[in-house]
Amino acid sequence: MFYVYKHLNSKVIAILTSGGDAPGMNAAIRAVVRLAVAKEMRPFGIRRGYGGLISRDIFEMSIRTVSEIIERGGTILYTTRNLEFHTECGLQRAVKNCKDTHIDTIVVIGGEGSIFGAKKLIEHGINCICIPCTIDNDIACSENSIGFDTAVNTATSMIDKIRDTAQAHDRCSVVEVMGRRCGNIAIHTGIAVGATAILVPEYKFDFERDVINRINFTQKMGKKHFIIIVAEGLKIASDITIEISKKTNIETRATILGHVQRGGSPTAADRVLASRMGCYAVDLISKGIKNKVVVVKNNKIVSMDIKKAVDIKKNFDLDLYNKALAISI
Ligand code: F6P
Repeated sequence: MFYVYKHLNSKVIAILTSGGDAPGMNAAIRAVVRLAVAKEMRPFGIRRGYGGLISRDIFEMSIRTVSEIIERGGTILYTTRNLEFHTECGLQRAVKNCKDTHIDTIVVIGGEGSIFGAKKLIEHGINCICIPCTIDNDIACSENSIGFDTAVNTATSMIDKIRDTAQAHDRCSVVEVMGRRCGNIAIHTGIAVGATAILVPEYKFDFERDVINRINFTQKMGKKHFIIIVAEGLKIASDITIEISKKTNIETRATILGHVQRGGSPTAADRVLASRMGCYAVDLISKGIKNKVVVVKNNKIVSMDIKKAVDIKKNFDLDLYNKALAISI
């Protein structure tokens, strides 16, 4: 069984990745490990998120364990959406393992659910620092999350290919993008590909006005093929594909982009964001600051109390949404 002996001068920190993986997770792990070593801390990796904390699947990391991972998607620490952690028994085992192994702080890299998990640990006396990492960019306390830029770029390049065939056939393509209950991937991708309509859960749309009339209007203006972006949270891609065909007589096809958006090499922007956030997390720990989420605010990296962060609701950028539609004619 794994056991960390307490060293007098070296802080033990442990890193886990949890929830859906996102491109840039590895870059964040790398930054945390490397700066931790530079600051004479002992970094440990926990495999498979909160599940590994329960089963004590923990190993010591070094500057070389994180070599050649900055460009890789996925996570070298693996990840899960762990149900046992949400039971009292699972949580108690996780807490006991943290105490037995003398972990000073856990760096949690993940999305909303992962931050919520960290809050539970904090309530049991375990220090955590969270790094927002999800393709959905749905974490209210931060303007940006690691993985979002890559996912938008991936979706954009996939839809560029879909457009080629839609253009060749004068067709309409309905494309469903990821994002859970959040429309951020849809809006940003929609702008990037010049979509005729963008449907997101945050905006109560009218199918006739926001889809059919827009297709008809842009057709009158000379447009011959159409891209309609639908956020997965609405679960309507196949239904509206049939409806568009019926109401416009335009041949319409549906594509669900799916998990391709979660994989692949992170963009330079995500690698830089992950590196900055990872370093910021270690700086906080070295200053003895606990229980924060590292966030982007006004384009700067700052931090916020985890307990406050989980209560904030994400604002919908209606102005950006309206602008996207204004220029897609
Ligand atoms: O949170 C990231 C995400 O990819 C969401 O966009 C999507 O709804 C969900 O995860 C899919 O989860 P899973 O891979 O567990 O099916």
